[in-house]
Amino acid sequence: MILKLEEKHIVEVAKIHKENLPSFLTKFPLSFIEKFYHLQISRKNQLLLGVFENEQLAGFVFGTDDVEKLYEDLIQENKFYFYFNTFKTLLFNPKYLLLFLGKFLAKTYVSPCKRQLVYIAVDSKTAKKGFGISLLKAFEKEWEQFGYYELEVESKNSAFNFYKKNGFFLVHEANNWVEKKYLLGKNLK
Ligand SMILES: CC(C)(COP(=O)(O)OP(=O)(O)OC[C@H]1O[C@@H](n2cnc3c(N)ncnc32)[C@H](O)[C@@H]1OP(=O)(O)O)[C@@H](O)C(=O)NCCC(=O)NCCS
Repeated sequence: MILKLEEKHIVEVAKIHKENLPSFLTKFPLSFIEKFYHLQISRKNQLLLGVFENEQLAGFVFGTDDVEKLYEDLIQENKFYFYFNTFKTLLFNPKYLLLFLGKFLAKTYVSPCKRQLVYIAVDSKTAKKGFGISLLKAFEKEWEQFGYYELEVESKNSAFNFYKKNGFFLVHEANNWVEKKYLLGKNLK
């Protein structure tokens, strides 16, 4: 069963995120990840869907119409909390510190499309049972009207194969000192 998620699901969403997603946000404390989703869910033009097995959340997908504004409200409303946690996270994860430096120093590609699937994750206990594909299909049904969307994936993430299987094409390849990332696009019409 796939549902639009509400406030009451955020604790479970954050837990699945923390345990399964390779992302910078994952390195933050669970309370910070929860704060992130609380804020996202209060915004218009976001989409947060969950898949349930035996009434238990088994995975989720989250997308936004403006990826550049993803952290804007969070920073505005929690300046000290955000900078303190970012500093602490960067200190313990120097890979990301290098990554940020690289972003400042190198010219980064800016896509005209701001609509992105930001995170998709299925609990590892229920992986490879078709939940990922069900989430993606439901997500795309909701966004069909927009005709096109993008997402980012690290080249070494095996989810890249999942996307390739599901009709995404390469828009841009970003290489820096620390990682290789792909920006993928998909037409919905
Ligand atoms: C990517 C992810 C959401 C897929 O969810 P899932 O429920 O395991 O996938 P499904 O069972 O729906 O698989 C659908 C198809 O994709 C394939 N597939 C799924 N994950 C795959 C992977 N990591 N590598 C290669 N193929 C994969 C399955 O074999 C299946 O193919 P088939 O239909 O030909 O048998 C899940 O692996 C995940 O949560 N990964 C960790 C989080 C992550 O990295 N997210 C992406 C961040 S960009």
